[in-house]
Amino acid sequence: MPNPPDSPLRERIKQRLEFYEDLGLGPFYRGRTSIATHDRTIAPALAASGLVPTLKQPSVPKTVLKTTAAPPAPASVLPKPLVPSVSSGPSLFDARIEGDSLLKIREDLGECTRCKLHRGRNKIVFGDGSPQSQLVFVGEGPGADEDAQGLPFVGRAGKLLTQMIEAMGLQRRDVYICNVVKCRPPGNRQPEPDEVETCSPFLFRQLDSIKPKVIVCLGATAFQTLLQTNRSISHYRGQWLDYRGYKMLATYHPAYLLRNPAAKSEVWKDLQKVMAELGLEVKRPKAK
Ligand code: URA
Repeated sequence: MPNPPDSPLRERIKQRLEFYEDLGLGPFYRGRTSIATHDRTIAPALAASGLVPTLKQPSVPKTVLKTTAAPPAPASVLPKPLVPSVSSGPSLFDARIEGDSLLKIREDLGECTRCKLHRGRNKIVFGDGSPQSQLVFVGEGPGADEDAQGLPFVGRAGKLLTQMIEAMGLQRRDVYICNVVKCRPPGNRQPEPDEVETCSPFLFRQLDSIKPKVIVCLGATAFQTLLQTNRSISHYRGQWLDYRGYKMLATYHPAYLLRNPAAKSEVWKDLQKVMAELGLEVKRPKAK
């Protein structure tokens, strides 16, 4: 039976669609027919509302695959659509916004209060660096220093990241640095799933706007968010992966390196792969 116009479900759908429109996804239009029939709770209401996203680009295969001779990814590592009831056609995860820019994304983010992290933050940490960079580093979320300054990776872990970037023969201004969540989680805890779900679409848009040649995930949260998987980073660290057509590599987070300096050599090997991919000179230590 159709839901009355003011039912809680209808209100929830309306709020969710407004949220997607805040993210720049949409506009939503009436009359699309490809509503999944299997989800009997939400599909009829969505169909009745006539509000389903307009998607501008075809689906890009989304897999956790090595770029060479990769077997098909198991279903368990495939990203889940953000709106599970719209099962045919591309998911919102695939939606790309033509002509999007970091400025527009920042504007859409606004003085965000979409999740509980806004309550404890001082400054939103949107991202920093070159909007045209071929290389993007994605961390987890701001810490105390980042929250105070509104810039990513400026604390102790950030100083180490800066050294790593410089060891690659680059400057911070040559790359783009951002995080999965834009507000500091209290006590530097890991961001919770609802916070990641709410904030990560802005990250997806940032990446689509920059269109980097290589994305480096710093730590498990970035890796798991971009590949929409719960798998441990350890099996994938240092391997070329595919995030929606972008080359992606996951490595240890600099904060982990501060606690485990012995792992720095692994990270350096990973970064050398990135340098080779970007055509940067890989310096070899001089023979003594
Ligand atoms: N750790 C992160 O993941 N991001 C930052 O910006 C700082 C520390």
